[in-house]
Amino acid sequence: PDPHLARDVAASLRAIPDFPEPGVLFKDFTPLLLDVDLRNRVSTDVVRRYDGAADLVIGIEARGFILGSVIADRLGAGFVPVRKEGKLPSQTHSVSYSLEYGSATVEVHTDAIQAGQRVLIVDDVLATGGTAAAAVELVRRCGGEVVAVEVVLELGFLRGRDKLAGTRVNALLTD
Ligand code: PRP
Repeated sequence: PDPHLARDVAASLRAIPDFPEPGVLFKDFTPLLLDVDLRNRVSTDVVRRYDGAADLVIGIEARGFILGSVIADRLGAGFVPVRKEGKLPSQTHSVSYSLEYGSATVEVHTDAIQAGQRVLIVDDVLATGGTAAAAVELVRRCGGEVVAVEVVLELGFLRGRDKLAGTRVNALLTD
């Protein structure tokens, strides 16, 4: 247990106004990545929850790749990238979801997850939940089992968890 982790992670996040567009307060987690001790505390905290419970870790493009691969190493699990449309070279499953304007699509290689494998999904932020819910659906299409969705920051007011009913969701901190 690391009682001050949430506080220290919150202090490390840098709020950038009007990025990527006017009116959005972007939470930049690159300072957390720069701090080796804090980054290790984050992965230790996650590994403590899922030690022995995950065969694979999914990282969601792009920031989920960074913590996801660190956590996969620490769990001794394979790493699976979930990528935006058109980036993965081999055969894929594809799931689309709606955004405020338009839609987005994420993909996974069809042979990346075997039936029955236990998969932990990692990302930096849970906002509307569309991306994480699409990743859950990709795991199901492969026949895998989702252990949990693990994020650094949950924007609670956007109610992303509502799209993830039935899936364990854990956030290091909630805004
Ligand atoms: C951000 C974030 C999550 C997603 C969360 O990624 O890293 O993946 O949005 O939003 P949602 O819960 O509303 O779906 P972004 O699309 O900015 O991609 P990037 O990491 O490649 O910049």
